[in-house]
Amino acid sequence: MKFFIDTANLADIQKAYQVGVLSGVTTNPSLVAKEGVKFEDRIEEILKEVPDVESVSAEVTPDAVTAQEMIAQADELIKINNNDKKITIKLPMTLAGLEACRYLTKKGVKTNVTLVFTVNQALLAARAGATYVSPFLGRLDDISEDGVLLVAKIAELFRVHSLETQIIAASVRHPDHVTRVAMAGAHIATVPFAVIEQLAKHPLTEQGLEKFAADWKKTVS
Ligand code: G3P
Repeated sequence: MKFFIDTANLADIQKAYQVGVLSGVTTNPSLVAKEGVKFEDRIEEILKEVPDVESVSAEVTPDAVTAQEMIAQADELIKINNNDKKITIKLPMTLAGLEACRYLTKKGVKTNVTLVFTVNQALLAARAGATYVSPFLGRLDDISEDGVLLVAKIAELFRVHSLETQIIAASVRHPDHVTRVAMAGAHIATVPFAVIEQLAKHPLTEQGLEKFAADWKKTVS
């Protein structure tokens, strides 16, 4: 399973990229709004910041409702950074979003169908040719449904029918989500930087480092 970072914050993207575990970036209207910056400018900055990742998702804005409106926005977004192939158009899981997805896929543009909460929605997105599909597991957990189980079911469905769409486990809130979606067959987990930091930590690692440091002071020089 690969890691994408789920943020529009440049400092967090830089930190994750520097660690060397980053395969992509996902953003959404809420994440961009938190940064207080112009959407297109931030996407351009992100694309420059992570030159060799496979994907940077830029979502069409909520005022694009029809497929034509979404495609018009996508056309502007893919012009940013000279039609860079890693720009991925994130589309809502609606009939219009699927229509735009099919159109953009045929044009060779990467797509990410977002706000997926059922297996059937994932199947539709895959059949519309989506490069990625994003089930939001944390938000299902929030309403007492099993988000990881959804990821496992989508992974099994895609395997049985040899569908090439990759699953991005999204709305990932903590390290246990990461372990469980990896075991369930997600291709990618998109996570905030805080979760990447948590993944790297263990109290016994800290304790071990402290003991090594203390013992090292006793060595003969
Ligand atoms: O990747 C989707 C994510 O940004 C939503 O996360 O925590 O708001 O459900 P959350």
